[in-house]
Amino acid sequence: MKEKIEALLAEIDSLACKSENEIEEARVRLLGKKGEITKLFEEFRTVAPELKKEFGQKLNALKNAAAAKIESMKDSLEEGGAVSASFDLTKPGDDFPLGSRHPVSIVREEIVEIFRKFGYDVAEGPEIEDDWHVFEALNFPPEHPARDMQDTFFISSSANSILLRTHTSSVQVRAMEKMPLPIRIVCPGRVFRNEAISARAHCIFHQVEGLYIDENVTFADLKQAILLFVREMFGADASIRLRPSYFPFTEPSAEVDVSCNICHGKGCNICKGTGWLEIMGCGMVDPNVLEASGIDSRKYSGFAFGMGIERIAMLKWQVKDLRNYFENDLRFLKEFETSI
Ligand code: PHE
Repeated sequence: MKEKIEALLAEIDSLACKSENEIEEARVRLLGKKGEITKLFEEFRTVAPELKKEFGQKLNALKNAAAAKIESMKDSLEEGGAVSASFDLTKPGDDFPLGSRHPVSIVREEIVEIFRKFGYDVAEGPEIEDDWHVFEALNFPPEHPARDMQDTFFISSSANSILLRTHTSSVQVRAMEKMPLPIRIVCPGRVFRNEAISARAHCIFHQVEGLYIDENVTFADLKQAILLFVREMFGADASIRLRPSYFPFTEPSAEVDVSCNICHGKGCNICKGTGWLEIMGCGMVDPNVLEASGIDSRKYSGFAFGMGIERIAMLKWQVKDLRNYFENDLRFLKEFETSI
């Protein structure tokens, strides 16, 4: 009996059936009512009691090995794409769920598309940057707090540090260094700041910044461009207000508010009762910045602006927690399915 078991084990091991029929034949031959293994179980009744334990275990192992081999041959036949008799080519296919575009991508496209209509080109640049393009060329004094370890992720802090860009203004510097004038660009991209993650702040977010440089560009042009953008983005009845602000790279600088699209100026909890929502920073490019990139500031002037994409998306869809944009929770992403 021992030899028989071993011979059958070896046979099972080398079994290689190529079709469902062959597999079924092997199953009947081994495990069927009159199969080899079934016969051995009958023989087992006559085994001496002191050997029952040993042979019982061996027989069970043999039976399991045969069943496992037959299952695995069936699986690999299916995986191999072999057409079985039960394969119905006329059966309709199973639906699989369509993905949706991420809300940040949807809003980025929308912003970029509006400026493209106004004649702006799209410029992109590296996320890993040097100190010159993120700070120095943008008129950041050496002791400016934005260079602090608390805001910037430094990769190396040698003389000209390598760091993760904290804004896409670095792409504007690269454009000013290389592109022929006049320049009219928007720079969408991912930026990094060393901030604690909360409902209102994240260490990674996305911006679209814009730059226009030509002869005789004035603050009135800036205001007009922003008003036109806001009306495309938030509706024809939206209005803006500019509050004086400070950025090292623009002078004068302003913070732009848009009239609250929820309460239409009456005051609600989204605009905290003010009727206004802050959406971007802007200003006239500081002459020092133009000169740092080799542009004659007596001949040329320009304006720049920059906004956070998540912030615009939050206002558009009244999302209260910024972290939703980064967690990839399908319940959240599915809400944007229709906006493909
Ligand atoms: N770079 C600024 C920021 O990241 C935004 C900005 C761009 C402000 C251009 C003014 C002009 O916050």
